[in-house]
Amino acid sequence: MSSKTLLLILVLAAGCLWAQEKKEPEPPSTAPTATTPASPHPATISAEDKARKNPVKFTEVSVQRGKRIYNTQCALCHGEKGDGKGELAEDMKLNVPDFTNPDTLKDRTDGELFAIIGAGIDPMPGQAGRMTEPQRWNLVNYLRALAGKAPEKSSGKEPEENVILVPQ
Ligand code: HEC
Repeated sequence: MSSKTLLLILVLAAGCLWAQEKKEPEPPSTAPTATTPASPHPATISAEDKARKNPVKFTEVSVQRGKRIYNTQCALCHGEKGDGKGELAEDMKLNVPDFTNPDTLKDRTDGELFAIIGAGIDPMPGQAGRMTEPQRWNLVNYLRALAGKAPEKSSGKEPEENVILVPQ
């Protein structure tokens, strides 16, 4: 290839880039307004996560299992009762949502809660590497119970629980 041809290609390529840039219109300003609600948190959750179905039935046994994990891993921030008044949250001056208010999580799917618990939301630590998936689903069920939903009676046929939490 002669250097002239090369130069021509470069000029054409540059022209293309320039034309592309010119074509892009200014994106319309869609900045959130003051009406953005403080909670639920605008966490980025994929449509797939959002649509994920809870494979663990909402029963008393599941809620009880979720509660046991909650009391050791979550209550320090979210409060024993789920009202957001945990000691650590007060010390750190965190703004923690009130799970006892049925409105707080009503627009969240179980899949979203599962994803949030797994990934965490700053400053909340993610649990995906520390808990089994059934443990996270039990937590989701416990959050529903905190909001006032009554779990089904247990069948007595729930699978055995894997209770080992990986220490941090
Ligand atoms: C270090 C304190 C802390 C710990 C520990 C913690 N959280 Fe949180 N959590 C927060 C804070 C703060 C928020 C609010 C984040 C925001 O909206 O900016 C939050 C938000 C959430 C939300 C999202 C609510 C929503 O829709 O906006 C869920 C669900 C949740 N926490 C569940 C849990 C569970 C379950 C545990 C225990 C495994 C846990 N958290 C442990 C501090 C904590």
